[in-house]
Amino acid sequence: MSDGLTIAIDGPAGTGKSSVSRGLARALHARYLNTGAMYRIVTLAVLRAGIDPENADAVAAFAPTVDLAVGFDPDEDSAFLAVEDVSVEIRGDAVTKAVSAVSAVPAVRTMLVRRQRELAEGGTVVVEGRDIGTVVLPDADVKVFLTASPEERARRRNDQNTEAGLADDYDAVLADVHRRDHLDSTRAVSPLRAADDAIVVDSSDWTQSQTIAHLIDLVEQRAGATR
Ligand code: DC
Repeated sequence: MSDGLTIAIDGPAGTGKSSVSRGLARALHARYLNTGAMYRIVTLAVLRAGIDPENADAVAAFAPTVDLAVGFDPDEDSAFLAVEDVSVEIRGDAVTKAVSAVSAVPAVRTMLVRRQRELAEGGTVVVEGRDIGTVVLPDADVKVFLTASPEERARRRNDQNTEAGLADDYDAVLADVHRRDHLDSTRAVSPLRAADDAIVVDSSDWTQSQTIAHLIDLVEQRAGATR
């Protein structure tokens, strides 16, 4: 284990996965890799090129030309398309709506999985995504599947919406959470599921700090076991 630990954090949206993964990386002085950002950068490039994200053949042909880069700093959102900082634009509505279609294209996944494996090399790293423990890094030292009840995830998202000045509509948000869970877990390519050897962590009743503390314990136990 001389070259550090590899920590995979998977799970559905709305579990606080990004904040928890960043907090864990910070506590471990580790690098942080947000793989969702990579799918988002490719999606932005597809949209800018005027390609229909639902046109899988066109997306597959175009994807290898995308010059993308992401940073490893858990305190900084760093996402680049060629030399342009696109860290804000990839979080916008247009990309969020199109990213599911683009990330379902097998050629896109193959290309990004290869990049993710290369980026994960070289020291302790926390890699966050949907298929890290199952596909990208099946030999990761620690695999966490972070989840929370659909009701709690809907509550958190609805709170974020109302804070952002959007309508308070818990029932609609809950219906959308159920819809996306179904799509994500039944899609043909890399469906969202916990790896057989993942530790399932339900954060429904925990604060973010409690969840991070729990994950630090898990990593320390694992590091102790491999020493
Ligand atoms: O985590 P996120 O919402 O930024 O991810 C954006 C999209 O990319 C989301 O639709 C799921 C997809 N994704 C994926 O398919 N595989 C990953 N390893 C990470 C994200």
